[in-house]
Amino acid sequence: MVSLLGEEMGKIQRIRIFEGATAIVTGGASGIGRALGEELARCGAEVVLADRQIEVAQDVAEHIEASGGSAKAVNIDVTDFMAMNSLVKETTRRTGRLDYIFNNAGIVIGGTAEHLSIDDWNKIIDVNLRGVVNGIQAAYAIMIEQGFGHIVNTASMAGIMPNPVNVPYAAAKHAVVGLSQSLRVEAAHMGIRISVICPGVIRTPILDGGEYGAINMKIPADRLSEIWEELRPMAPDIFAKKVLRAVANNKAIIIVPSWWKIIWWLNRLSPALGIAFAKNRFNKMRKEFELYS
Ligand code: NAI
Repeated sequence: MVSLLGEEMGKIQRIRIFEGATAIVTGGASGIGRALGEELARCGAEVVLADRQIEVAQDVAEHIEASGGSAKAVNIDVTDFMAMNSLVKETTRRTGRLDYIFNNAGIVIGGTAEHLSIDDWNKIIDVNLRGVVNGIQAAYAIMIEQGFGHIVNTASMAGIMPNPVNVPYAAAKHAVVGLSQSLRVEAAHMGIRISVICPGVIRTPILDGGEYGAINMKIPADRLSEIWEELRPMAPDIFAKKVLRAVANNKAIIIVPSWWKIIWWLNRLSPALGIAFAKNRFNKMRKEFELYS
């Protein structure tokens, strides 16, 4: 394998827990990615905010720099492997190392499956699964060569439980959980860590569909936000602090807010109960939203 780091390799021993580390965060312009980027920079990491909302990412990077941190915004579409590969290589060359990649960019296209097009399915799978695969494929070889690194993928509670009205999203997120857990086992003996984040509900623009997603349902905006409020959304900055603590401790599956772990345990104890819980919620929604259709 061609050495990407040249003579620097010999000097590098192990992963840095944020201080002096290099961290790439995809979807770093908004919501969870933005909060992770800001918190990583606060902890002393050199952060690359990789996002297709480049102007927003640049504003975030400027804000981080103005607060004494180190950040750079890069325009990227995570579905483009060549672009991801160049970003990861260029970042590693520039900083001499790659401690973390947070494969976090994601979109949601909500709606029952009969209202989704094949294009909706492809968009979700391309960003939420292929985007993660592209980040891993680009970073893993470099981390193997270094002998250290931590890949942190953002899935969802929808990756460990049934999630009606979000079927393609659940499919992609289940895949991200499965690949993260499997790769964690393979990667450990090479000094590489793999974690997967399963957020509950976090107060970010994705709750309204996000910049690149959509909600194909006739739900009035104020009712939609009431539904999210019932699930007690967490502020992204608090979420990021909790997640990074778990990342520093090399947790395999990171569930925040932690009360969602109870739902996860119940679902593992009895998958039938998980389905019954999801069905109950779905039926309530179906009845209510027939009123609006
Ligand atoms: P957000 O909409 O605030 O941020 C997502 C970011 O990803 C945006 O900046 C967007 O420009 C970027 N992005 C989307 N497609 C991209 C692409 N092809 N290439 C590059 N960047 C792209 O949403 P949020 O909530 O911060 O989502 C981050 C991750 O967290 C996603 O993977 C989402 O599925 C996951 N998640 C969020 C939850 C929440 O309640 N907010 C719950 C569970 C999971």
